[in-house]
Amino acid sequence: MPGDKSISHRSLMLGALAVGETQVTGLLEGEDVLSTAAAMRAMGADIVRGDDGTWRIHGVGVGSLLQPDAALDMGNSGTSTRLLMGLVASHPITATFTGDASLSKRPMGRVITPLSQMGASFESAPGGRLPLTLRGSSPVVPIEYRLPVASAQVKSAVLLAGLNTAGITRVIEPVPTRDHSERMLRGFGAELSVEEVDGARIIAIHGEAELRPQTITVPGDPSSAAFFAVAALLVPGSDLIIENVGLNPTRAGIFEVLRQMGGHIAEVNPREVGGEPVADLHIKHSDLSGIEVDPAIVPSMVDEFPVLFVAASLAKGTTTTTGLEELRVKESDRITVMAQALSAAGARVEEREDGLVIEGTGGEPLRGTANARVKTHLDHRIAMSMAVAGLVSQDGVEIDDTAPIATSFPTFEGLLKEAAA
Ligand code: S3P
Repeated sequence: MPGDKSISHRSLMLGALAVGETQVTGLLEGEDVLSTAAAMRAMGADIVRGDDGTWRIHGVGVGSLLQPDAALDMGNSGTSTRLLMGLVASHPITATFTGDASLSKRPMGRVITPLSQMGASFESAPGGRLPLTLRGSSPVVPIEYRLPVASAQVKSAVLLAGLNTAGITRVIEPVPTRDHSERMLRGFGAELSVEEVDGARIIAIHGEAELRPQTITVPGDPSSAAFFAVAALLVPGSDLIIENVGLNPTRAGIFEVLRQMGGHIAEVNPREVGGEPVADLHIKHSDLSGIEVDPAIVPSMVDEFPVLFVAASLAKGTTTTTGLEELRVKESDRITVMAQALSAAGARVEEREDGLVIEGTGGEPLRGTANARVKTHLDHRIAMSMAVAGLVSQDGVEIDDTAPIATSFPTFEGLLKEAAA
């Protein structure tokens, strides 16, 4: 599996803030991560990819980001936008963020609110959307912020702003979300503590921090592996090993849910890579059964619901998902878009406000989309999920646009052809 997208973004950002040379291997070279690299270059970092695939970053130091000359084009990437807004907020610079049609529909108010409390100011398109101009300032004031939505991007934006803020910036997380920022900030030498009080996590970062350059190996992306895991579970006769899959517990919910459905997924050669748990996954075709997915697991598989819906469409019985409101503000409205896409392919799907209820075929292939092209709405995960659905359909699935796949998984098509062969 190619490198984890979340960890790749963060390694470029923190490397760009550490004085000295950070080396990164296994970086995901997808468009989203390249948007982050371009933005960090525009703010003064020297970032070069060697012929051997190692990325070398010479950072400017916390507090020393430069004002970019032109607007920062974030493409399709919500993670780049929201995390970089955090970084810019506590620097005395102004930056304008722009993005594609999908990103320009996504809510930025969730980061504008805490960063405004710290002292940054914003001008945005109506509804707190891109294009958006952020005037950072220094010094800003440390805040204590309780996350109103379970979002690692919002958490990370506040923590990254806290890096260049004198005093202690705290984020209270009632529901745990992916903790890559916390792990990597510590790895770079920031003083960061995590406490659990009444089930909530309180993350405190001490600024102003000085970061030390690191040598990082990025583990493989579990969100990318999920497409192949579901493909192997669904296609009769499959016996697949997916190498190098990050299994951080805040990310690995999909494999747990697929096992609850009866999926054979074994972890082979467990190890640690870049401070994160990693294993190879051995997956065999399995007869899946529908389940009620516990909403408590949602944050640890928030990006994997589109492909879980595909698995549910072939399972025996009913799968019910709830608590998925956040899916409506991802690269597309993943509840409505997947309901439409799977229905067009012949699955039995009922859309509810906070999830889907899916009546599976019990292993029978879907019909496929003979006359209707699936609309992917610039959403890579819709495209890849429906490609997996195509593998288990009679007539195949046709999608309108494969280009978005390159945002997170440029090698997807080649690997899928190989695995399918
Ligand atoms: C991410 C956090 C999640 C996830 C996204 C990557 C991150 O977004 O959907 O793909 O790297 O922090 P939210 O914070 O909006 O849940």
